[in-house]
Amino acid sequence: MTDTREGKTMSSEIAVVTGAGSGIGYATAQALAADGFRVLAIDIDAEGAQRAARSVRDRGGESIAAACDVRDAASFAAALEESRQRWSAPPTLLANVAGIGVAATVTETDPNDWDRVLGVNLTALFHTCRAVLPSMVEAGSGVIVNVASVSGLVGVRNRAAYCASKAGVIGLTRSIAADYAHLGIRANAICPGTVASEWIDKILSHSPDPEAARRQMEDRQLDGRMGTPEEIANGIAFLAGARFANGSAFVMDGGMTAV
Ligand SMILES: NC(=O)c1ccc[n+]([C@@H]2O[C@H](COP(=O)([O-])OP(=O)(O)OC[C@H]3O[C@@H](n4cnc5c(N)ncnc54)[C@H](O)[C@@H]3O)[C@@H](O)[C@H]2O)c1
Repeated sequence: MTDTREGKTMSSEIAVVTGAGSGIGYATAQALAADGFRVLAIDIDAEGAQRAARSVRDRGGESIAAACDVRDAASFAAALEESRQRWSAPPTLLANVAGIGVAATVTETDPNDWDRVLGVNLTALFHTCRAVLPSMVEAGSGVIVNVASVSGLVGVRNRAAYCASKAGVIGLTRSIAADYAHLGIRANAICPGTVASEWIDKILSHSPDPEAARRQMEDRQLDGRMGTPEEIANGIAFLAGARFANGSAFVMDGGMTAV
């Protein structure tokens, strides 16, 4: 990659961002574009992906959108091909941000929900990484940043499938680092604490007392607040350029897991 200074990547290289239609993915598309990346904005929500790409372009960057369910390897490959046609080069950065959750213990979890959560949060990352790695190997460089969670590091009540999927993301990330480091490729996971995204808004709106639930979520962080999507996006952009970070599970949780 054309790193010009530690922690920042100034280039016109191509970044793929999944889950770009909302929250952390949306902010990541903007942050990477600000660092000079052309951005392929992917989301199952076609309008969301378009919104993200439009916002990048409105700020003077280059971006195209693709509606894609990340579980569908053929659809992801088609999106990659579209960006290759547009920019005549393969991606050098993959940010896997798309994710879903289900609130349930093991005994409460419907097996279909288990498959859905593992499918989007973990198996899809196997497919997307598998799709971008060959061209990165050919180029002798490339970076993957996978969004895991503090739920991949510690047990969280009522989140059985989610915790399992995010622990799997950290394992997958480390195995990629182990297998591909000598080929010039870095893979890191980022582990956010609670982040005030549309996802959390939805959870709160279903709570009997949204304000009390919000305060409870804020209190889980030593900092007494939730993170912002932009803060996590900056962490992803940092890992994109942090040349000595490989195989890490980088925690950004306002101190949630420090105590
Ligand atoms: N918000 C938090 O507190 C928090 C904390 C830790 C980790 N995370 C992780 O951060 C990531 C982003 O979360 P967010 O808070 O921005 O949520 P969000 O719901 O705001 O955004 C998730 C995006 O992923 C997209 N998506 C869902 N399933 C998809 C699929 N099958 N194919 C393509 N796109 C799909 C959604 O349409 C949405 O645009 C997730 O992986 C989540 O697990 C979030």
